[in-house]
Amino acid sequence: MQFEFAAAAAVDLGAWVVGAADGPGLLAAAAKADKASGGALARAMASCRFTGKRGQVMDVLAPAGVKASRIIVVGLGKPEEFDDGAAAAAAAAALGRLKGTAETRITFELDAPKGGRIRGANLAAHLALGAKLRTYAFNKYRTKELGEHESKLEKITVLTGDAAGARKAWGRCQAVADGVFLARDLVNEPPNVLSPAEFARRAKTLAKTGLKVEVLGEAGMRKLGMGALLGVGQGSERESQLVVLQWHGARRKTAAPIAFVGKGVCFDSGGLSLKPGPSMMGMKGDMGGAAAVVGTMQALAARRAKVNAVGVLGLVENMPDGKAQRPDDVVKSMSGQTVEVLNTDAEGRLVLADALWYAQDRFKPKIVVDLATLTGAILIALGVEHAGLFSNDDRLADRLIDAGKKAGEPVWRLPLAKGYDKLLKSKIADMKNIGGPNAGSITAAQFLQRFVKETTAWAHLDIAGVAWQEGEHKPLIPSWSTGWGVRILDRLVADHYED
Ligand code: BES
Ligand code: MN
Ligand code: ZN
Repeated sequence: MQFEFAAAAAVDLGAWVVGAADGPGLLAAAAKADKASGGALARAMASCRFTGKRGQVMDVLAPAGVKASRIIVVGLGKPEEFDDGAAAAAAAAALGRLKGTAETRITFELDAPKGGRIRGANLAAHLALGAKLRTYAFNKYRTKELGEHESKLEKITVLTGDAAGARKAWGRCQAVADGVFLARDLVNEPPNVLSPAEFARRAKTLAKTGLKVEVLGEAGMRKLGMGALLGVGQGSERESQLVVLQWHGARRKTAAPIAFVGKGVCFDSGGLSLKPGPSMMGMKGDMGGAAAVVGTMQALAARRAKVNAVGVLGLVENMPDGKAQRPDDVVKSMSGQTVEVLNTDAEGRLVLADALWYAQDRFKPKIVVDLATLTGAILIALGVEHAGLFSNDDRLADRLIDAGKKAGEPVWRLPLAKGYDKLLKSKIADMKNIGGPNAGSITAAQFLQRFVKETTAWAHLDIAGVAWQEGEHKPLIPSWSTGWGVRILDRLVADHYED
């Protein structure tokens, strides 16, 4: 797909996208299109009850008086609420209209509504970002006629008064979008293909972007004493892997980095505490945290972010087998603490226990953020609209809440407290890996906190509700996997941790 930024010009080919805002109605380019088409837009608006509300889209086919094959009018919503996210969503909604059509070109001529919060080069770049995120498709395993899955679109043009500025802003947006695509590809990939070793191999190819990538196998992890992580992978034919990605972009190469840690369970069968069939479906996506971390690291490298950052991925497959870990086993983590494993399906926390400890022990990071499809309970609490946020540091938590809002990946904070922590008491070891029947997401976070040093500012994002989606319900996400996490982490870094 080609992206182009150009000065305003007549649109004589393909789809022409113009905007209307809730209140002001048709904006300048839309009014121009309406006039050229002899008032076709105004008539269509009335018949469609189109008022410019956010999310509304209307298209007028083959209008007389204009050369474009169709005019698409997108609703930008209330001018004062028109921001980065709204711009991206509006562009994505326009693209949605082209699904299954023969259009090869789409041109955006979207004016910033007066009083809006985004305009100029930044608006143009975010329109392109929204359009790009919507073009994502995962068709590598389709061998038949692609039909509706295939887009004929070749070129996306954004008309803007500041094409040079837009191209510059686009550089950053494009790096982020490519990171999101990488994360989506990894989550969509079936588990027979994406083993821990294959995931690690793909991470290694990122060395070409300037990232330093190291991979540890089981022998290396055993030396480090990672009994918690290794126990989870023990029932799998495939070797567990620990991947470490480093980006040195800060002025001082030795400055303490920020660290991202990802749960990378390439398939979660539950282990001997086997999941029932319907709950096992989709568990190829249980590496969504690790995917988001790799996607973010790639984005930081691609946009040459002025930060030192490390990504640590705990990659395992959780399988039942004669060699598998049993409920009742006791394992020793790298931190020295022992865990009684009462449910082998509460495996993500065991993987993260060692990955979190490793990240802190080796890198002494300024902050640690982990991402994990950790609990089904977070879906019960928050559904698919927010990821769960837990943190021992109010400043980091507030920064994540703000970054999430801006990036269109909102998070909602839930508590950590001693009262929940006691639910992890074990009869024979330092702790057990499950709490009681209630507060499942909180007890999981409490478990993780036991592997976080008191001096580390840490946040945990439970992304079990947002890493993938059933059906198609978000304008920027056309596929099962969402790539959730790349945009919020990139925003967090850009706003707070760059020189
Ligand atoms: N990977 C799952 C969590 C999950 C559930 C992610 C649904 C996405 C959708 C995790 O490893 C798990 O199995 N958690 C258990 C924990 C329980 C055994 C304490 C759960 O949520 O049921
Ligand atoms: Mn599990
Ligand atoms: Zn899991």
